[in-house]
Amino acid sequence: MGRRWASRRLGLALALVVVVVVLAGRCDGGVTSSFVRKTGKTVDMPLDSDVFRVPSGDNAPQQVHITQGDRDGTAVTVSWVTCDEPGSSTVLYGTTKNKIEFFAEGKYTRYKFYNYTSGYIHHCTLRNLKHDTKYYYALGIGHTLRQFWFRTPPKVGPDVPYTFGLIGDLGQTFDSNRTLSHYESNPKAQAVLYVGDLSYADNHPIHDNVRWDTWGRFVERSVAYQPWIWAAGNHEIDFAPEIGENEPFKPYRHRYHVPYKASGSTSPFWYSIKRASAYIIVLSSYSAYGKYTPQYKWLEQELPKVNRRETPWLIVLVHSPWYNSYNYHYMEGETMRVMFEPWLVQYKVDVVFSGHVHAYERSYRISNVAYNIVNRKCTPVPDQSAPVYITIGDGGNVEGLANNMTEPQPSYSAYREASFGHAIFDIKNRTHAHYAWHRNQDGNAVAADSMWFYNRYWHPIDDSATSAA
Ligand SMILES: *[C@@H]1O[C@H](CO)[C@@H](O)[C@H](O)[C@H]1NC(C)=O
Ligand SMILES: *[C@@H]1O[C@H](CO)[C@@H](O)[C@H](O)[C@H]1NC(C)=O
Ligand SMILES: *[C@@H]1O[C@H](CO)[C@@H](O)[C@H](O)[C@H]1NC(C)=O
Ligand SMILES: *[C@@H]1O[C@H](CO)[C@@H](O)[C@H](O)[C@H]1NC(C)=O
Ligand SMILES: [Fe+2]
Repeated sequence: MGRRWASRRLGLALALVVVVVVLAGRCDGGVTSSFVRKTGKTVDMPLDSDVFRVPSGDNAPQQVHITQGDRDGTAVTVSWVTCDEPGSSTVLYGTTKNKIEFFAEGKYTRYKFYNYTSGYIHHCTLRNLKHDTKYYYALGIGHTLRQFWFRTPPKVGPDVPYTFGLIGDLGQTFDSNRTLSHYESNPKAQAVLYVGDLSYADNHPIHDNVRWDTWGRFVERSVAYQPWIWAAGNHEIDFAPEIGENEPFKPYRHRYHVPYKASGSTSPFWYSIKRASAYIIVLSSYSAYGKYTPQYKWLEQELPKVNRRETPWLIVLVHSPWYNSYNYHYMEGETMRVMFEPWLVQYKVDVVFSGHVHAYERSYRISNVAYNIVNRKCTPVPDQSAPVYITIGDGGNVEGLANNMTEPQPSYSAYREASFGHAIFDIKNRTHAHYAWHRNQDGNAVAADSMWFYNRYWHPIDDSATSAA
C-alpha cells in the first residue's frame, strides 16, 4: 500500500514537473538544451603529446601563424619562433609551388617572464598581395626550410561570399584538440574570428610560458594556413606582480601582432579590419573603455566610418559577453555594455561574438539602452536594430565547462547549451548569412543550433524565426 501511494505521489510530482517545464518554455526564454555531455575538469595535454612536437631540423621555425596584415586583406603577417639562434626573419613567397618570386624582410623580438626566456619571435608582413590568390611561403632560410600556403581574401565588396569560423577560449586540453579537429573538418572555413583566451599558460605555476610555446605548436596546423583574427581575453593579461611581472599582456603582445595602426588605433587590443563583405571590429574588455579613454574615442570615430554599401556585414568581437545567462562571469560585461551598446544599436551591428563563459549561448535581437539611473527601465526588450549576441567560449580549455545556468532562462536568450564546440558564419551575399554552431560530439554536418542572419542594413526584417535548434 505504501508503495502504491508512493508511486501515485511520484506520478503527481511528474505531472507537476511537466506543467512547470511547459510553462517555463512558454513564458520565459528559448531553448535550454537537454543534451548530456561529460562534465568535470579537463586536463592539458602532456608536454610530450604529438600536437606539441617540435619540428625536426636545425633551428626549424615553429609556432607558425598568420593573421591579416592590413586594413583590406592585401597583406598577411607571418609569425614564427626559432629557438637556438635568431636565424633569418625573411619570408620567401610566390604563387607557384616551389618557385620563389618574392621575399619580405621581418624582425624578431624576445622577452623574459620571471625565469623564462622566449625564443626569437619573428614577425614579417607580406604586402601588396593579389586578392583571392593562393600563395606559398617558406621560412627558415639557411637552416631548415619549412613551407606553407594561404589564400588571400577576395577584394572587399558587398556581395562577396566568405566563410568565417568562430573559436574561443581554446586552451590546450584533449577537448581543445577535438574542437580544432572538428573545425578543420569543415572544408569551407576560410579564416577564424578568435574571441580571446588562447593558451591558458597562466593556469600553470608561474604562468609557465612554455605553455605559450606548446599552444603555438598545437594550433599551427590551422593558423599557418588561414588567418586567425585575434581578440585579447583575460588569460592574455599575464599580470603577476607576485613574481615581479607587472607589464600586462607581455607574452601576448610579443607573440601575436595585429594590424591595429591601419585602423587608426593606438593599441593592439582594439582595431578593425575589412575582409570580403565583412567589417570586423575587435574590442578589449581588459583595456579602459570609459568616456574619454582611447578605446572609447576610437570606437566613437570608428563606427561612422563603416560603409555598409561596401561591407554590409558589421561584426564585433569582444571577450567578455554583454548578455550572459550563465552563473559564470555573470554581469562582468555589464559596464562595457552600458558604455557601448547604444552605439551598436545606432549603427545596426549584425552580431557580437564573445567568449569567456565556457559554454554556448545565442540571444534574440534585443537591447537594453533605455535605462538611466532614475527611470527603472532596466529590462532588455526586442529590438530589430540590435545585434544578436553569441557566446562561443566553448573551445574546451583546462577550466572545464560552465554548466550552471540562471533559471529560468531569460526571455532574451534563444538557445544555450553547456557543450564544447565551434561555429561557422557563412556569408552568402549582402542580405543573407547562414550561422551554425557545432558541438564536438556530433559530425561536421550536424548543426546543434543554427540561424539565417538577415543583414541589418540591407534586409532588416525579423530573422528570429529562422533558427533551428
Ligand atoms: C623556474 O622556476 C620554477 C619554480 O621556481 C622551476 O620549477 C623551473 O624549473 C624554473 N625554470 C627555469 C627555466 O629555470
Ligand atoms: C589531436 O588531434 C589530432 C587530429 O585529430 C590527432 O592526430 C592527434 O593524435 C590528437 N592528439 C592528442 C594528444 O589528442
Ligand atoms: C549555481 O550558481 C548559483 C549562483 O552562483 C549558486 O548559488 C549555486 O550553488 C550553483 N549551483 C551549483 C550546482 O553549483
Ligand atoms: C542571397 O542568398 C540567399 C541565401 O542563399 C538567397 O536566398 C538569395 O536569393 C540571395 N540573394 C541574391 C540577391 O542573390
Ligand atoms: Fe576568459
